[in-house]
Amino acid sequence: MDYQNFVEQDRVIDAIANYYETPPLAYMHSFGCQQNVNDGEKIKGVLVQLGYGLTDRAEGADLVIFNTCAVREHAEQRVFGNIGALKNLKVANPKMMIAVCGCMVQQKTVVDKIKQSYPYVDIVFGVNGIDQLPHMIGERIRTRKKVIMEPAERTELVENLPIHRDSSFKAWLPIMYGCDNFCSYCIVPFVRGRERSRSAENILAEFRALIQSGYKEITLLGQNVNSYGKGLDHPMDFADLLAMLAEEPGDFRLRFMTSHPKDASRKLIDTIATHDKICNNLHLPVQSGSDSILAQMNRKYNVTEYLSLIRYAKERIPEMTFSSDIIVGFPGETEEDFEKTLELVREVGYVQLFTFIYSKRTGTKAAMMPDSTPYSAKTARISKLLNLHEEFAVNFAEKMVGRKVRVLVDGLGKIEGTWSGRLENNLVAEFSAPENHTGKFVWVNITGHRGILLTGSIAEEQGE
Ligand code: 5AD
Ligand code: SF4
Repeated sequence: MDYQNFVEQDRVIDAIANYYETPPLAYMHSFGCQQNVNDGEKIKGVLVQLGYGLTDRAEGADLVIFNTCAVREHAEQRVFGNIGALKNLKVANPKMMIAVCGCMVQQKTVVDKIKQSYPYVDIVFGVNGIDQLPHMIGERIRTRKKVIMEPAERTELVENLPIHRDSSFKAWLPIMYGCDNFCSYCIVPFVRGRERSRSAENILAEFRALIQSGYKEITLLGQNVNSYGKGLDHPMDFADLLAMLAEEPGDFRLRFMTSHPKDASRKLIDTIATHDKICNNLHLPVQSGSDSILAQMNRKYNVTEYLSLIRYAKERIPEMTFSSDIIVGFPGETEEDFEKTLELVREVGYVQLFTFIYSKRTGTKAAMMPDSTPYSAKTARISKLLNLHEEFAVNFAEKMVGRKVRVLVDGLGKIEGTWSGRLENNLVAEFSAPENHTGKFVWVNITGHRGILLTGSIAEEQGE
């Protein structure tokens, strides 16, 4: 389905303009993953089209939207805390509207809780309801009643939503939505629904438009990018899609996430190896280094298979770096299981590691599994893991000293007088340079490091 400026659009724009005395301001905050950040950029696109200005504070905003995440309980609690904090703002500005959207409100229990405990929330819509936002705002103004979209699975994809991107040189590009994997701990398949791939033509069109408007780094997004293409009229696998985009003309970098180890293929590694524009960096979440925990997690691979793919990648692309997600304290995880995770982390050597303490999500299989490990043991495990990772990452940074590397400049560095840029391998370098090169690729000589952060200065000779 194409997002059109439906008949109602003009009426809603007028209704909004009439409702507020001054041009309205909207504050939108996204919690959670990059998929959500990209959805948030679309929400902002819709709001701008409706005549809202954007602000980065809830105070003074006429519309506040929280685009929520349901992956861990902590994220949900934060959202409820944030909604609670809006109550006073609404008392001060009764015309202010509050909207809650995204993954959390795909759960009926959450919608019921909002209705009961946060009656001042005006609008609720799920992950596939962004195109309905103008209608909902219009209804809220017209009827003066709350507009609550009950959780429902909507399978059609909406193309061509307006978008207000956060960056002018780095972009997220979703290639698929939803997930069919049902890892036993994970709520995503329940809230984001079944896997659906965008057509290669639509992806290519968006990609070309981004490159033409000067974007330098495009990250392809999907819950499991390696199962891209199933069910399309012209099925295509992820490696082919990646190669197709990497062969487009222009000076850009391609990244992608997330790869499920059970679906990441040697063909994918070969595609990365043969295309310079695809970053030599693979985010391959392992979740645990214990085969029995992996089986309980319903991950459908074992440690031997995982390591065999990593070894292949290391042989094929010696420069390749890896990152991973790890869950600590999954129900039934013993010290022995956890030791196996440490062993695997030692063996792979990740430049980036995202570690999470297991969070029970109602409705998932793991929520029924007995979990007798005390929380204190889980936090002790996670700090062991972080220390081990830090040790590797700092050693890795040390080995980069003396090299000349290409970075995409993000802006000012944290160290005074420096600029910050990211290497292809996902490390960050802060460097001195006489000029501002934000949004451009530059060559940097790495002369030192502070922990995992590389330091240096811009190379006099801009080239390999
Ligand atoms: N508890 C802890 N971490 C989780 N993740 C997903 N679900 C849970 C959960 N219930 C983590 C996984 C996933 C990442 C995005 O979030 O590691 O890869
Ligand atoms: Fe969740 Fe597993 Fe799907 Fe990732 S692959 S979103 S962890 S169910």
